[in-house]
Amino acid sequence: MNNRILVIYATKYGATEGIATAIAEGLRKQGREVDVRNVKDVFDITGYSAVIIGSPIYYGKVLPELVAFVSLHKNMLHEIPVIGFLSGYSLLDISPEKKQAASAAFDQILEHIELRDIGYFAGKISEEHLSFKDKAVMKIIGAKPGDYRNREAAVIWAQGLIDLCLLQL
Ligand SMILES: Cc1cc2nc3c(=O)[nH]c(=O)nc-3n(C[C@H](O)[C@H](O)[C@H](O)COP(=O)(O)O)c2cc1C
Repeated sequence: MNNRILVIYATKYGATEGIATAIAEGLRKQGREVDVRNVKDVFDITGYSAVIIGSPIYYGKVLPELVAFVSLHKNMLHEIPVIGFLSGYSLLDISPEKKQAASAAFDQILEHIELRDIGYFAGKISEEHLSFKDKAVMKIIGAKPGDYRNREAAVIWAQGLIDLCLLQL
């Protein structure tokens, strides 16, 4: 096993890829080698020393492809450190209560594996690309379109994972 870290993200409209690449930047700043992949393109995690998995929250849950991935690879994921991250509209201000509520999005994942830490990041609501149904839901809950992502926050969080040795076996 080498010292490489794999950052895996799920996404519906593309915003979470930007958070994943910011996390990778933070890890690289700390001297680690990192790959970033859409969960749909990951078939093998052999050789990675740690994995970071992330998803936007939709209706209080992570995207189903991430749950399916974890279920399929749980045996290998048990052998290495795994960290999670979430992005969502509800994470614009991150109070302990908001974090607690948002972390329930990982419940289906936690049936299979343990997460050493969870990062919480505000997401992006892009009006133009949303499906008709998703647009209607956003209107009903009063969510304002905008890019609320904070790249620097993700970089700093990722650097902290190295400082705190959370990605060490
Ligand atoms: C239909 C819909 C439902 C959503 N549900 C939630 C939710 O339950 N909690 C939350 O924090 N954000 C919610 N969001 C916001 C998304 O998580 C956010 O826009 C995210 O950045 C989208 O990432 P993506 O572009 O990678 O799919 C929802 C967005 C849409 C369009």
